Amino acid sequence: MCGIVGYVGQRGSLEVLLGGLKRLEYRGYDSAGVAVLAPSGELGTAKKAGKLGNLTDELRAHPVTDGHTGIGHTRWATHGGPTDENAHPHLGDGGKLALIHNGIIENFSELKAELIERGHSFSSETDTEIAALLVGDAYRETHDLTAAMLAVVNRLEGAFTLLAVHANEPDVVVGARRNSPLVVGLGEGENFLGSDVAAFVAYTKQAMEIGQDQLVTIRPGSVDVVDFAGSPVESRRFEVDWDASAADKGGWSSFMAKEISEEPDAVANTIRGRVVDGLVQIPEMEGLDDETLRSIDRILIIACGTAAYAGMVGKYAIEQWARIPVDVELAHEFRYREPVLSPNTLVVSISQSGETMDTLMAVKYARERGARTLSICNTQGATIPRESDAIVYTHAGPEVAVASTKAFVAQITACYLFGLQLAQARETLSTDAVRALVADLQKVPDQLREVLKSGDRIAELAHWMADTRSVLFLGRHVGYPIALEGALKLKELAYIHAEGFAAGELKHGPIALIEPGQIVFVIVPSPRDERSLHAKVVSNIQEIRARGARVIAIAEAGDVAVLPHADEVIRIPLASPFFEPLLAVVPLHFFGMELAAAKGLDVDQPRNLAKSVTVE
Ligand code: M6R
Repeated sequence: MCGIVGYVGQRGSLEVLLGGLKRLEYRGYDSAGVAVLAPSGELGTAKKAGKLGNLTDELRAHPVTDGHTGIGHTRWATHGGPTDENAHPHLGDGGKLALIHNGIIENFSELKAELIERGHSFSSETDTEIAALLVGDAYRETHDLTAAMLAVVNRLEGAFTLLAVHANEPDVVVGARRNSPLVVGLGEGENFLGSDVAAFVAYTKQAMEIGQDQLVTIRPGSVDVVDFAGSPVESRRFEVDWDASAADKGGWSSFMAKEISEEPDAVANTIRGRVVDGLVQIPEMEGLDDETLRSIDRILIIACGTAAYAGMVGKYAIEQWARIPVDVELAHEFRYREPVLSPNTLVVSISQSGETMDTLMAVKYARERGARTLSICNTQGATIPRESDAIVYTHAGPEVAVASTKAFVAQITACYLFGLQLAQARETLSTDAVRALVADLQKVPDQLREVLKSGDRIAELAHWMADTRSVLFLGRHVGYPIALEGALKLKELAYIHAEGFAAGELKHGPIALIEPGQIVFVIVPSPRDERSLHAKVVSNIQEIRARGARVIAIAEAGDVAVLPHADEVIRIPLASPFFEPLLAVVPLHFFGMELAAAKGLDVDQPRNLAKSVTVE
């Protein structure tokens, strides 16, 4: 949700903070703010509602004295609307302490009452201001920022990452985390804090994880980590495997356009290093050896949004290949219905960010109840993989646009690899069958490059449909989750009504929505599919066309049977039916982006949304 950056070193802190906020802005863009300590010890702050550009304008109009220590924040509003007053940082200790926050402090009402009793008044509606005042009061007693933060964090309930600076300690930034992300960037004579590595990757690729309920104090030459009891802890270091240019637009009109163009590489990089002698071998899966994989009798995939649709595609493949029951559940529904779990249940979480609070809480819940956990994740050093028994990283590279695209195809690819590894371990597929599937999967990146060529035609269609108020998507089998994904992209990017349906469900109700002119995208199964799903979906197309629908079919090359029934056919190359979702989704990603662009909307930062949903 919110993005957080902290810096201490020799550079001008404003440049580092604003650069970091630019890279973190995808986490929230309701307001932005900074606090910097001048060498004289003076604390300067600036904050403004709206996107980062408003803050930079404010700093031009009312400059603050720059120094070498500071904190910066970009907000996704929870407590209190997106106003200047509610923007972070918030102040304590009579304006000498500045604090920023990501998360929700759940016991803020009782803490606020206590502060009012102590004579404090408030200048915002946020829960964050409570933390700033509490740490400020604690500082007056401890005269030490680390000690003051330690005194307060154990009183806070909920999820939080807090960063604070104090005018009396010009070379110190203190951070604390519980259930919200925080990583350290390790430099030479300088150190950084960030919600994720994007905050500092322009300066250093050396990073360090901060664990749950830990507090970190950075100075130019040191990084000290303690737990919330104050005892020192060892933290894992890692090297960021991408550089700053990967998170730049690189000449593209939007991050989303760039990220769609990277879908072939996302699939290729997720496969790379995991195929040995034509079979799947995922090195990071040591936490789940073959014996354990054989003992599993049920798989539960948990995720949210687009990641959950990737899980639905995964379900079809894993169940088919490994002959094991697989269910997919939205993470936020999972732990509130007391699911039946056992040590033979494998809970697979899928998350691009690795920080989605609903998914994180579901993983913790599953672990506490004895299930084994596997994380499919795109972000190194994120919380969900750290809370899991085993990890399969997707290698899509940093995804900046709020709408997930390249991470989606990478997540599906990771599910396929996991399904094939499971099938090998359980001997439910012959070695030859696995090799044939792996060979087909390895062809997908090139096939995706072919599909990308349909972008111009989709852009034409989208511009022609700019005034459309409703679009429906139909799919069957692995095409069904793709229909859901196509609809989600239209809702979040173009703000129009869109629904995805299983094509077979149409006659059970949704067909009543069809009226003359209704646009319907149909993901058409391959005519080579032995279950004759193609014929059934073509019948569905005829049923809706008879009622006036305008049909845009996504169908494989050479499928002539669909031609007489569709107003437009977008072609995808011939692939194994299980891999078709990877190809069929790209035109829908294009369509969501182009329709939003045709309506003049911000494709990368749609309204009301944030990239990482780190609140429940
Ligand atoms: O980081 P995650 O993969 O856990 O995020 C899950 C969803 O919030 C995410 O996929 C969301 O639905 C996207 N905005 C969809 O484009």
